[in-house]
Amino acid sequence: MAVCDLTPQDFSKLLEFTKDLARSAGELIRRGSTAILQEGNVDEKKNSVDLVTEWDVKVEELVRSEIAKSWPDFSFIGEESYSAGERPPLTEKPTFCVDPIDGTTNFVHGFPFVCISLGLIYKKQPVMGVIYNPFLDQMYYGLKGQGAFVVLPSSPQPIPLPLAKPRPLLSLSQALLGVEWGSDRSASVMTRKSASFVRLAGDGKEIKDAKMAHSIRSMGSAALNYGCVAQGSLDIYWEIGCWPWDVCAGIVIAQEAGCYVTGSREFFLSHRDEDPPQFKDWDELIWGRKYIVIRAIADTPTEKGRDAQRRIVGDFYNSVEEWDAI
Ligand code: IPD
Repeated sequence: MAVCDLTPQDFSKLLEFTKDLARSAGELIRRGSTAILQEGNVDEKKNSVDLVTEWDVKVEELVRSEIAKSWPDFSFIGEESYSAGERPPLTEKPTFCVDPIDGTTNFVHGFPFVCISLGLIYKKQPVMGVIYNPFLDQMYYGLKGQGAFVVLPSSPQPIPLPLAKPRPLLSLSQALLGVEWGSDRSASVMTRKSASFVRLAGDGKEIKDAKMAHSIRSMGSAALNYGCVAQGSLDIYWEIGCWPWDVCAGIVIAQEAGCYVTGSREFFLSHRDEDPPQFKDWDELIWGRKYIVIRAIADTPTEKGRDAQRRIVGDFYNSVEEWDAI
């Protein structure tokens, strides 16, 4: 097999391999949770709210070695090896992009919204994603052009995403939004972020231009936010400061579920008229550190669902402020 020529059979094999790997990693994450809640060995990365544990590293090592055994020619980008200084260039080669434990803060608190996120980038485009929450035994997965699915403990048969027929979404005021507090708690970021939250949730009768969205949630895992938007339970998820390993798998799953996925306000405006899978600038999107995703929306007699997605993302970006991710 030439490295850049994966066949449909290779992709099917890869998907099964990655789903199995996610479950094995999930066992280790569950074991780690018991240990961490007893011993509490937690380290800090850039500050006291940017956490890492020995289990993040152990899970990444497990995943990396299993990938190397089965797919020795593939490249690997992982949160913990990146933190340790590795900077693999993104080439045309198939590249696994992995967050071993997404939701590390939840993990150390025993809050059960934690997952492993395994994405595959091929010819610089995310093409496969598997996200597994071992505490709720929930697995999302998607393969480019083949749809997205969730496997739940209540229904071992994969359920296609979104879970229900897409509904219309007329405006932000009807939306349930996913946002995160992130690890940059500097005054300038917190001021912009909280002003954005106020404009999204506040009452427009008293707060200028506020949208009064139904509500705002912070789940603590970027990948699970993508899963929730893909299944149609969250209408939008927006975050500045994530990394490719947080979003790579989620991007594929969301796109396959009919979501509209894009980056910063500037990226959105300059790619507004392209259908996301046609993006020529995947690199810029994946490494852009600014991400937004909106769920599948039904067509109405006056507007196509895709146009509604773009209109609402435009409206969202007119309501929030941006900042540089550090
Ligand atoms: C973090 C989580 C969190 C998000 C951060 C991510 P980690 O990943 O996804 O929800 O707000 O931006 O970095 O550190 O738990 O792997």
